[in-house]
Amino acid sequence: MLQLQRAAEPFVSPSEVENVQPFIKLVHEILHEKKGAGSDFLGWLDLPERLKNDEFERVKKAASKIREQSNLLVVIGIGGSYLGAKAALRLLEHSFRDLLPRDRQPLQVVFAGHNMSATYLAELMEILDQYEVSLNVISKSGTTTEPALAFRLLREYMEKRYGTHEAATRIYATTDEHRGALLNLAKEAGYECFVIPDDVGGRYSVLTPVGLLPIAAAGFDIDVLASGALRAQTDLMEQDVFKNPAYHYAALRKIMLQKGKSIELFVNYEQGLHDVGEWWKQLFGESEGKNHTGIFPAAADFSTDLHSLGQYVQEGSRQLFETVIKVRNPRKSLLIPSDAADEDGLNYLGGRSMASVNDTALDATVLAHTEGGVPNIVFELEKMDEEALGYLFYFFEKSCAISGYLLGINPFDQPGVEAYKKNMFALLGKPGYEELHDRLTQK
Ligand code: PA5
Repeated sequence: MLQLQRAAEPFVSPSEVENVQPFIKLVHEILHEKKGAGSDFLGWLDLPERLKNDEFERVKKAASKIREQSNLLVVIGIGGSYLGAKAALRLLEHSFRDLLPRDRQPLQVVFAGHNMSATYLAELMEILDQYEVSLNVISKSGTTTEPALAFRLLREYMEKRYGTHEAATRIYATTDEHRGALLNLAKEAGYECFVIPDDVGGRYSVLTPVGLLPIAAAGFDIDVLASGALRAQTDLMEQDVFKNPAYHYAALRKIMLQKGKSIELFVNYEQGLHDVGEWWKQLFGESEGKNHTGIFPAAADFSTDLHSLGQYVQEGSRQLFETVIKVRNPRKSLLIPSDAADEDGLNYLGGRSMASVNDTALDATVLAHTEGGVPNIVFELEKMDEEALGYLFYFFEKSCAISGYLLGINPFDQPGVEAYKKNMFALLGKPGYEELHDRLTQK
């Protein structure tokens, strides 16, 4: 489903990968025996085999109800509480879903609470009256400022428009099972609640109701998504680094960093994968960027960005490597026609499929960038559907955990995210932050 096609040759030799094998074995054990740092956040590891439970069925029922009641779902969340769902929807849905004829338009899903732009939120609220609206507010802590603010405004909108009782039938909360402001508020208002398990951190939560509810509401098959993830869980138990592409990838990243390659560019050649890049960036950035180490994760859409970043990749400073996702069977195919006049000089491509030209662009770029001193790791994703996506999500979660342990950090916490929050609370005058407020304003 996701195969490693190129392992950064010639910058990395098989013997260098072989040298990482003992460490891989060790961190595999640490991970599976729950002996490493952050081991109380390993619920995602066997989540695929535990997915088909009562709550999974409840997610499907709620998704149907949302589709019956509404034609617009606003998903409120930030970081791990929205990036997975967004990645899934953008990969699975029609590239121009907003422009489809009204009767063929699926339920629209839009996102809020992932920024604090008044313009964004006000303009979202301007269009809501044209739709029948449901809300899914997602926050594990239940206290994150961005989604909490957006929810305060959108809840007020819903209650004014539908009345408190009906609004409550249109609002779904996905949060901690036992605690948090959102849980209390949801219980009081009578919203249907879904659980983010205690032992699953935000960026590893796409296969919980965090991702499942929006994905199912948009009309995609979460049973198939779950079966793809389960297949990955089974496949990726192999400890031989050459037989487990997730571990091979983690080993290559370790070697890359040792060789001074501290920036990884995650590259797609299918626009639908753009938001998978955003999800991947958060997964690796928040998991690994600690103790002044880690690879900086960046993402690009090719061939689009070959006309912007391409120059830098080819000839700029050499701290980069690329991880490229090639799609073996894109969702659609197109044949390039021949043209009698051939005024554009493209007849040499006449009769070829657009996909094969895209693949050739990929091959040509990998060769050029490799020649230019940028190691390329290439994965082939079998297709762009729910099954392949479930596999991909689990694949990168596992490689991230192994990669983080190889680095010697805890891949499941994010202490650094607190620094901006504390300053923001202090500067906004939140009670309890008075001393920091004074210190910061003196600066
Ligand atoms: O991966 C993480 O843990 C974070 O990115 C969180 O998902 C993000 O900060 C949102 O947190 P919460 O769901 O508590 O609102």
